[in-house]
Amino acid sequence: MTEITITSPLDMHLHLRQGDMLRLTTPLSADFFAGGVIMPNLIEPVDSVDRLNTYHSEIQALCKDKVFEPYMTLFFKQYKKAELEQVKDRIIGIKLYPAGITTQSENGVSDFTTIEETVSAMEELQIPLLVHGESNGFVMDREQEFLSVYQTLAENFPDLHIIMEHITTADSVEFMERYDNVSATVTLHHLMITLDDVIGDLMRPDLFCKPIAKTQEDRSALRNAVFSGHPKLMFGSDSAPHPRHKKECIGCAAGVFTAPVALPLLAQIFDEAGSLDQLQNFVSTSACQRYQLTPPQKTIRLQQKPWTVPDFYGDVTPFYAGKTIGWSVVRT
Ligand code: NCD
Ligand code: ZN
Repeated sequence: MTEITITSPLDMHLHLRQGDMLRLTTPLSADFFAGGVIMPNLIEPVDSVDRLNTYHSEIQALCKDKVFEPYMTLFFKQYKKAELEQVKDRIIGIKLYPAGITTQSENGVSDFTTIEETVSAMEELQIPLLVHGESNGFVMDREQEFLSVYQTLAENFPDLHIIMEHITTADSVEFMERYDNVSATVTLHHLMITLDDVIGDLMRPDLFCKPIAKTQEDRSALRNAVFSGHPKLMFGSDSAPHPRHKKECIGCAAGVFTAPVALPLLAQIFDEAGSLDQLQNFVSTSACQRYQLTPPQKTIRLQQKPWTVPDFYGDVTPFYAGKTIGWSVVRT
């Protein structure tokens, strides 16, 4: 049976949520991953040292004896340099959301002319800037339209590490390559689905997310870059669970819950592409290099043995629910 070993897999974009949902999601990620970049878009955003410390402790307590490093982020707002100095060693970066563009982003940035002072302090202190890069234009054009904002940031702050989160288009791949200070995360689902899967047949709330899945050409560009081991592309699941009553209703919440299926499905699609040798780079090495991280040591064995994804985890429908994946994690 084909088997591969991955060292210290990292999920560089992860929503664990709060309360009961946090209790459900944390062990599911901590089982398989050595660390994850924890998104700050809680009902009350993680935008102070106190909230950050509380959230970090909650996650750590739920990891129990599992080896898992929660790499914390702050929600972008205008911070003074002194505040950032105080918090710098506790965070991996600051996550910027345009106001209202996705789940719990109401407190995001509505005027990009106001961010300069904070971004400049981040550059000085070497705090990475993680960005949800979408405009409020037509849904299929939002990522493309945001590239001008990325360009201004990349050019005005050449020593700032900017991460384009969950890129979905061929243009984004090309843009990312042009600037040394720019990296990007790519999700599992955007490597697998297009808009056709979301709305081309019966509408699929479980596949509805921001940014919306795009065209076949876009997906091919992502796949080609990821499967060839691009050194600036990192795996970030953007695993974003919502309870079924928030998905299967009028006004479906955006987000795909992929954390519990991510590594086996990645193994499957990398294998199908003949690129299994690039999986370590995508799920760990490239993030370690781009963020200068030394993650906790953790070894995960994946084998080519089928398993069927549960229909539900708690009250959440996972990606690939009820379907069989050709690869599974070897439980030790
Ligand atoms: C995310 C969520 O639910 O928090 N939703 C999503 O569709 N990806 C937020 C985000 O990353 O946009
Ligand atoms: Zn996200």
